[in-house]
Amino acid sequence: MRIVVLTGAGISAESGVPTFRDSDGLWEGHRVEDVATPEAFERDPDTVLRFYDARRRAVASALPNPAHLALAELERAIGDDLLIVTQNVDDLHERAGTRRLVHMHGTLAHALCTACDAVSVIVDDLEGRPACPECASRALRPDVVWFGEMPYDLDRIERALVTADVFVSIGTSGNVYPAAGYVAFASALGARTVELNLVPSDAAVPFDEVRAGPASQVVPAWVSELRPDR
Ligand code: OAD
Repeated sequence: MRIVVLTGAGISAESGVPTFRDSDGLWEGHRVEDVATPEAFERDPDTVLRFYDARRRAVASALPNPAHLALAELERAIGDDLLIVTQNVDDLHERAGTRRLVHMHGTLAHALCTACDAVSVIVDDLEGRPACPECASRALRPDVVWFGEMPYDLDRIERALVTADVFVSIGTSGNVYPAAGYVAFASALGARTVELNLVPSDAAVPFDEVRAGPASQVVPAWVSELRPDR
């Protein structure tokens, strides 16, 4: 059985990483368009770099929760038959042990050089303008996908969706495309679709099955029902 899992901010909420769309509509006190667009970076790079430096530090002190751990366990059981696609820029899936992972919106751990396009591991805060390890330009930005930019690895994700028997969406509001369209895509290709969310999202195409509850409970329960090791 081939499974594609899409995760969003809700899977990391119980690790203490705030989701994007809180009740006040702000992301850590900022309007998304002031920190997560190429225009914002052009207008005020210091604010944007400081914002992502702060997010990176916050994530470094967070720990994977039982939902991340259950998915890593599932991968150990079924290997290449599982692909996890995350919209999250934290590294909690990796730290839980997941290896077959696509960060479609990039990751806080990496910098992208706007001069030479090299991707490097971030060592020092970007607000201090460290040099690119490839070309030495002091032109690094976070390697995260901003609004208006193309998400990463879309071909690999679509290839996995085409052969998926099950598509599972965990902790995402389904507001941001193309990820929000994956349920319709997978469903049209015959996959069974499942949503695990604190509260069901308003998906344009309904999921075959919806389980409401905190990810730390519903994800381990779903994984254990699959009984991949038996
Ligand atoms: P959102 O903040 O839009 O949605 C979070 C989802 O998590 C909601 O559907 C909540 O119901 C659910 N949730 C909250 N706590 C939960 C818990 N403990 N257990 C399970 N579910 C829980 O976050 P995303 O859908 O990830 O993009 O946002 C998608 C994209 O929009 C992000 O990747 C980012 C953002 O703007 C970019 O930056 C390009």
